[in-house]
Amino acid sequence: MTNISSGKKKIKNNSFKNTKKASTSKQMISYEKKEHWKGGTLLAPIPPALVTVGTMENPNVLTIGWTGILNTIPPKTYISVRKERHSYQMLMDTREFVINLPSANLVKAVDFCGVRSGKDINKFKETNLNPARCPNVSAPLILECPLHLECKVTDTVDLGSHTMFLADIVGCVVAEECINQDGKLEIEKCNLLAYAHGAYFSLGKQLGTFGYSVKKKKTKRKNSQQR
Ligand SMILES: Cc1cc2nc3c(=O)[nH]c(=O)nc-3n(C[C@H](O)[C@H](O)[C@H](O)COP(=O)(O)O)c2cc1C
Repeated sequence: MTNISSGKKKIKNNSFKNTKKASTSKQMISYEKKEHWKGGTLLAPIPPALVTVGTMENPNVLTIGWTGILNTIPPKTYISVRKERHSYQMLMDTREFVINLPSANLVKAVDFCGVRSGKDINKFKETNLNPARCPNVSAPLILECPLHLECKVTDTVDLGSHTMFLADIVGCVVAEECINQDGKLEIEKCNLLAYAHGAYFSLGKQLGTFGYSVKKKKTKRKNSQQR
């Protein structure tokens, strides 16, 4: 009983009373006002990653939207790549790649690497992106990006239009300018690029941090004691 009542109290403390209601009118929030579309890839925003493949001697880069985190321990990711991409065979041969997360200022290069093939041109030269050696994989990283995930492929799954390259994230490389004095990553300094429904965006302002919705407010006194 005690648990139940304290649980209730908690919810009350963290109530959403300050949240503005969209509308009080039932008409506005009616399910009838939603359109039903057929299944599609409408997940947004996603990172438009610059994925590097090959080696320092023979590198290539392509833009990848179909990526994400699959597991925490061990850290696992994937990229889904069409067979007709020049990078596809390179991935099959080396079974390694790097996910480079681009800053908003790289948007033009990101788009270019997603519409031109390494079969025809050297995309590093064309975009002035610079490859550099990675600590754990033979694929290079892109110096101009602030964050890099070094990946080793563990499985490939033919899903239809794309083949999924499932991979262990064996190392991360982080630009010094995004790390604070306590050695922590300050992600807002990376100014990451986002992609949503065919368009590129920069991230907006930070609205909260993990768990903030249930965090108890520190009293002024406690705060001053901590300092
Ligand atoms: C924003 C964006 C996201 C893309 N995502 C993917 C993807 O997830 N998988 C894929 O196979 N191609 C994707 N592409 C297309 C490839 O990047 C493009 O075909 C590229 O030219 C392939 O390069 P390559 O032939 O040098 O390997 C994307 C393109 C853009 C612009």
